[in-house]
Amino acid sequence: MFDAVIPFFNASNRIVVLTGAGVSAESGIPTFREAQTGLWAQFDISELATPEAFVRHPDRVWQWYAWRRDLIANCEPNPGHHALVEMESLFPDFLLVTQNVDGLHRIAGNQQVVELHGNIQRCKCFSCGRIAEQWDRTAQTPPTCQHCPGRLRPDVVWFNEQLDGATLDQALNAAATADLVLSIGTSSLVTPAAYIPQIALQANIPVIEINPNPTPLTPHVHLSIPEASGVVLPALVDALR
Ligand code: OAD
Repeated sequence: MFDAVIPFFNASNRIVVLTGAGVSAESGIPTFREAQTGLWAQFDISELATPEAFVRHPDRVWQWYAWRRDLIANCEPNPGHHALVEMESLFPDFLLVTQNVDGLHRIAGNQQVVELHGNIQRCKCFSCGRIAEQWDRTAQTPPTCQHCPGRLRPDVVWFNEQLDGATLDQALNAAATADLVLSIGTSSLVTPAAYIPQIALQANIPVIEINPNPTPLTPHVHLSIPEASGVVLPALVDALR
């Protein structure tokens, strides 16, 4: 089944994997852009996932993130996450770059993880930016920062916000110097994350995509595997062992 895939791995030392919400779909966490089930099909981005929305109605934004935080806290890594831990053990020069804020890659056991969009289980101050060590998780309204009069918000990247520069540079540099890049479970619609496989393609580095649905990246990749990551990744890692 993986006759076309294995040679890419055999020829590679340095592997960069970009993941998106699809990798966590089989853990029960909704994706963003799928019709009907995607979060952005049911909720308005501009009312929930922007700094402007937090200023306009902080309680609504806080409660929506509290709902997602609780949902995610009750979910576990799926076989796709576990297979990526195995992959890291087979290829020590391995970087996992994720757009997911659920933390499931680290919980599964991956070591080299870059969380491009933050982590929903953390909070930081909307004013001074300091990470909150503890806060009332049952609060219905954003708690006050321990260091300033600011209010706490989830430590995720919202629309209209910049990603952390050092984190993004690390991911882009890794993609530009990799031997192989995998793009798994992402619609490839959100930049700058979507630049990661594009940079690899520009540098003639092979890119493999795993996604049951086509994306704007699909026509350009060296190999497309149109299947669920929780199914295909364990089988792939078995074949690599
Ligand atoms: P999307 O919801 O845009 O895309 C999810 C992708 O996962 C789709 O292309 C699906 O086809 C695919 N998919 C679904 N089930 C899958 C499965 N079992 N295995 C593999 N793939 C599957 O999510 P992202 O691309 O992650 O940003 O979205 C990028 C960013 O937009 C997110 O990080 C989030 C969102 O707004 C922030 O929160 C800042």
